[in-house]
Amino acid sequence: MKQTLKGLVLSGGAGTRLRPITHTSAKQLVPVANKPVLFYGLEALRDAGIREIGIIVGDTHAEIEAAVGDGSQFGVEVTYIRQSAPLGLAHAVLTAEEFLGDAQFVMYLGDNLLRDGIQGLVEDFRTNDAAAMILLQQVPNPESYGVAELEGGRVVRLVEKPSAPKSDLALVGVYMFGPSILAAAKAIAPSPRGELEITDAIQHLIDIGERVEPSVVTGWWKDTGMLDDMLEANRLILDVIAPRIDGEVENSTIEGRVVIEEGARVINSSVRGPAIIGSGAVIENAYVGPYSAISAGVLIRNSEVEHSIFLENSQLDGIDARVESSLVGRGVVIRKSDAKPRAYRFMVGDSSTIGLI
Ligand code: TTP
Repeated sequence: MKQTLKGLVLSGGAGTRLRPITHTSAKQLVPVANKPVLFYGLEALRDAGIREIGIIVGDTHAEIEAAVGDGSQFGVEVTYIRQSAPLGLAHAVLTAEEFLGDAQFVMYLGDNLLRDGIQGLVEDFRTNDAAAMILLQQVPNPESYGVAELEGGRVVRLVEKPSAPKSDLALVGVYMFGPSILAAAKAIAPSPRGELEITDAIQHLIDIGERVEPSVVTGWWKDTGMLDDMLEANRLILDVIAPRIDGEVENSTIEGRVVIEEGARVINSSVRGPAIIGSGAVIENAYVGPYSAISAGVLIRNSEVEHSIFLENSQLDGIDARVESSLVGRGVVIRKSDAKPRAYRFMVGDSSTIGLI
């Protein structure tokens, strides 16, 4: 009898492109519309009927384990698998060998989001004896992605960031594999950047004559590994959020799709959705504009913010210019100072970016 299909969620990695947030925290736990991006992936796997999920963790394992626990909050069973170092996606697969056994599995990159989930795709794969099924999406700039070339409905070649792309089909961060991927991952050598690349392992499957099926995804897909993509994912999710006002609203206007969580307070302010304001947040004499996700315990006072993500307990206080397209980490304080001499005063972590006007 065939084993049940398992899930493998990759939540290790270095996250260099999201520094400084990733100096102190896992990028997979950065919230999109106030929910960690990783949770969307776990829910997508659960909704596709997958119960046994292995999560690859690295240096940020304690934080991931504290957030996800045993998986029961999602209705799944989670096994944590420690990867010694972020040595590549195929290395992550090998690290999970014992957990995977000879089961078919879905590999889901923990910082990726797919609008339409993966239910139908998993069904297709279950009933199909392909060695792998890769998800693809047409992109305008294939040179920035891993790209698949197709012939007669089969994948014939995968190329990492091609300078002269022959196809505009980028690899989405969700893959379906049969057990032969393990032998393929063992057969390849590290790439010039020193990683065991999943594209090389899949190419190896093709080269030895195994069947690799493409599946083109039409609903939006976001890899949140960089600031702009994170903000874009936040925008896409907020666009469809169900409005709800459970917090206190005093002398304020609330327009459009807005969630105000219980325990949040909006005083003498204007909130224009789509936006979400977390529990315990205080919005006072302020404007919170479209595509803002304000986490729990944040203070926005005498300021204006739009198209931004504020993490827990951060503060924006008395800033004259509107703040936009920003990702503000936990406990960060940005406030007007009346101290003399008049000057900017910063205490900012490594790899931070500040745009002043
Ligand atoms: P990437 O975003 O490709 O890599 P990264 O997390 O190291 O980030 P950066 O390039 O900014 O330094 O990884 C995709 C996902 O896979 C992400 O959730 C991290 C995870 N991952 C692992 O778990 N193990 C690994 O060895 C690698 C490379 C990534």
